[in-house]
Amino acid sequence: MSGAGKPRKGTVAVVGAGFYGSTTALRLAEYDIFERVVLTDIVEGKPEGIALDMNQSRPIEGFETQIVGQTTGANGEGYEAIAGADIVVITAGLPRKPGMSRMDLIETNAKIVRGVAENVAKHAPNAVVIVVSNPLDEMTALTQLATGFPKNQVLGQAGMLDTARFSYFVAEELNVPVGAVRTLTLGSHGDTMVPVPSQCTVEMDGEKKALTDLLSGEKVEQLVTRTRNGGGEVVALLKTGSAYFAPSAAAARMAKAVAEDAGAVMPVCAWVDGQYGISGVYLGVEAEVGAGGVKRVVETDLTSSELEALQKAAEAVRAKQADVRDL
Ligand code: NAI
Ligand code: 2OP
Repeated sequence: MSGAGKPRKGTVAVVGAGFYGSTTALRLAEYDIFERVVLTDIVEGKPEGIALDMNQSRPIEGFETQIVGQTTGANGEGYEAIAGADIVVITAGLPRKPGMSRMDLIETNAKIVRGVAENVAKHAPNAVVIVVSNPLDEMTALTQLATGFPKNQVLGQAGMLDTARFSYFVAEELNVPVGAVRTLTLGSHGDTMVPVPSQCTVEMDGEKKALTDLLSGEKVEQLVTRTRNGGGEVVALLKTGSAYFAPSAAAARMAKAVAEDAGAVMPVCAWVDGQYGISGVYLGVEAEVGAGGVKRVVETDLTSSELEALQKAAEAVRAKQADVRDL
């Protein structure tokens, strides 16, 4: 169904109207399944201007979801605009510059994300929160602490993006449609990202083939390394910011899965409690995403070296996630 008669439901808020936030807001609005998309930022007039511009695209693109822009103040002024939101995507924070690691952003972004999370808890206490600000695993943990929300109600976006990058590189290498490729990355959104070649397949000649049967170990390792450095490769080319087209597609799809209670299995940053022999940490794993956030962490078969890498990633992010308590 399209047009004015289509049922639309609920409010999704996007905090931070920079490159990531604004592209996410537009993707969400163009799904045409929400009643309202609220976009906020601390830069006076920026979210209102972007919302006005996006609303003017509606007659051309034919979607009825309303986009509302709202400037917010240092003391939480303006946050009434997200009242009762069903989903909040947090994109507020600085992006990387060339040569910076995501971890270089931790102190600055922790202050920003903590403030945002407190306001989300106050105005949208039932919202599922999808965090994208970097460093991702740590900002997701901090958001849960600062909101006090149940752990399954807070999740982070990284695995969808890292997996999409891996799939794209494989498709490019084998000259096959991206839709024929299934890859997987787990672990952290950083140095301890864990691409999982043993779970990667490619549909070819009507058959599902193992990636490891199609490419040499050395070639797979090169693609894995390019995936691990995927964000940095874009930052080095852009010079003034980081990627946002693929990242916004990832966050928007997660929000859609929540809104539609899809129960779709997605690689996301979720609270891990016993799976893979790992407990008490936000980590990139596969999970069923739907109403309420993470419904269930799904354990995937891993080789012993992939499992070992995932457990190492858990220990690395656990240490950093403990640090954010005091930031
Ligand atoms: P950007 O600089 O274009 O936008 C950030 C926006 O946040 C700015 O408009 C700024 O005014 C706003 N902001 C700052 N403090 C705020 C506050 N307290 N409340 C509301 N808004 C506030 O950066 P971009 O490209 O949009 O990236 C945003 C974040 O997403 C960065 O931390 C970046 O590293 C991260 N990122 C994460 C990815 C992931 O896979 N998880 C992928 C790409 C980016
Ligand atoms: C990315 O992976 C910078 O985290 C951001 O593109």
